[in-house]
Amino acid sequence: MADNSIQKAGLNNNHAKSFYHLTNFDINKSYCSGTACLASRRLNQTCWKKALEQTVRVHCLGKCYMSPACGQLDSRPIIKCHSSKPIVLKRIIEGGFTNIGRYVKSGGFLGLKKTLSMIPEEVIRIIEQSGLRGRGGAGFPAGKKWRSVFSQKSKEKFVIANADEGDPGAYTDRFIMEEDPYSLIESMVIAAYAVGASKGYIYLRKEYPKAHTALQQALLLSKRNSFLGENIFGTKFSFEIKIVVGQGSYVCGEETALINSIEGKRPEVMARPPYPTESGLFGKPTLVNNVETFVNIPWIIVNGAGAYSSIGFSNSKGTKVVSLNSLFRNPGLYEIEFGVSLRTIIEELGGELQEGRIKGVIVGGPLAGIVPPHMFDTKFGFEELRQIGSSVGHGGVIVFDTGTPIAELIQHIFDFSSGESCGKCTPCRVGSRSIETMFSSILEIGNSDGAASRKQFEEIVSALESTSLCGLGTGLADFAKSVFRYYEKELSECFKW
Ligand SMILES: Cc1cc2nc3c(=O)[nH]c(=O)nc-3n(C[C@H](O)[C@H](O)[C@H](O)COP(=O)(O)O)c2cc1C
Ligand code: SF4
Repeated sequence: MADNSIQKAGLNNNHAKSFYHLTNFDINKSYCSGTACLASRRLNQTCWKKALEQTVRVHCLGKCYMSPACGQLDSRPIIKCHSSKPIVLKRIIEGGFTNIGRYVKSGGFLGLKKTLSMIPEEVIRIIEQSGLRGRGGAGFPAGKKWRSVFSQKSKEKFVIANADEGDPGAYTDRFIMEEDPYSLIESMVIAAYAVGASKGYIYLRKEYPKAHTALQQALLLSKRNSFLGENIFGTKFSFEIKIVVGQGSYVCGEETALINSIEGKRPEVMARPPYPTESGLFGKPTLVNNVETFVNIPWIIVNGAGAYSSIGFSNSKGTKVVSLNSLFRNPGLYEIEFGVSLRTIIEELGGELQEGRIKGVIVGGPLAGIVPPHMFDTKFGFEELRQIGSSVGHGGVIVFDTGTPIAELIQHIFDFSSGESCGKCTPCRVGSRSIETMFSSILEIGNSDGAASRKQFEEIVSALESTSLCGLGTGLADFAKSVFRYYEKELSECFKW
């Protein structure tokens, strides 16, 4: 029943169509107007101009290391490990493992083999003890989520890999799927065995056509070699995975909108509870984890929870991949251990700016706060970044220089978010557009109603903070609050008569 309804409704259901803006759009011919491209627009003004002229907006092509980016050009970024142990990027640093034989020889599927020799309860305990937290944004403990799905009494359960990677500035999941696709498949099968699921989905963004090809091939060969499908490793356990390609909606990365999207419904965010772990895809218990969260799993199973939790610090265990944009001297993917300072990431790994002066960094996606240079000694950790109004988020690190006015950044981020709002909450649907219009006008003609505009701005931000149903609205408030906190002088200039 589940699969029929996907085929029938797909993502092309008329009721849902207006949500998607990339359905009939050729990604290969596109120009990106994401936040990393805005920050680096001076590096290629022609490309940036084309992005702004394009009627269909593309918010991130996952090529922030070569921004301003376009669909036609591609290259491989610097990919390095700055941790005592490489976990997520190990195979990618070694050149990628898209060949199944090579993957197996490197220890691939050993985690799955070991998993199948344990009872599910034991697997869940290992994940709980490892301290692994979600890498998709919220940092929720993975083991807790797995236990919740495990403990539901239901004949049918699902596992979903969230491969929507919508945050401008983030491109980690892209390279995991393109260059190490079997690790995602292995991790999903382990998760399915642990929670008792028989079907899985990879919800993949359309902007990643190479990842689509790599995953299709890997699914086929995994099945042919009994690592997926019926009677995995000759056991009684069976599990299928299907890929669902998104059509360009940022909010579909939010787990309840994503579930609606797979079901072919209008992908609005749903109120929780019930949580997807209790009532998710087609009303069944569903485990939704991010791609990077998943690929930590085989390492944890093989090496043990203790080995994993000994990496990192405080309540942030293990490693995190950060993705640096093109304004850095050394843009690329770096696997770091939680606990290093932002300064290490920005100065030592990124090599600071190619030229000019750093004005701030947007860490964890545009819907988190800006971090100014005087806060760069903050340690990279979930709670530590929260305390300064920022976030680990998806691990994107977008640096911007003194050539980017704060007003322009505010206009850009509110423009992006109001276009992607699912529309359920009024401050997000209407208020975010009002702020965008206000700052467009400030940038074009200056401000004619200073005090009133400032008051309106603050009131909308306060409404976003207190009434938003999901992280898109609250993230916008976080972003604005960081501007109030760290860039007050420049902001107040915007509201002068
Ligand atoms: C607006 C919005 C967009 C999101 N986009 C993504 C995304 O692209 N990828 C992702 O893994 N999580 C995204 N999330 C977080 C998911 O809702 C969910 O928390 C996550 O997939 C759970 O996986 P994790 O526990 O492994 O992080 C988004 C959340 C919001 C509010
Ligand atoms: S905050 Fe915005 S995106 Fe999130 S549920 Fe409300 S309207 Fe939808």
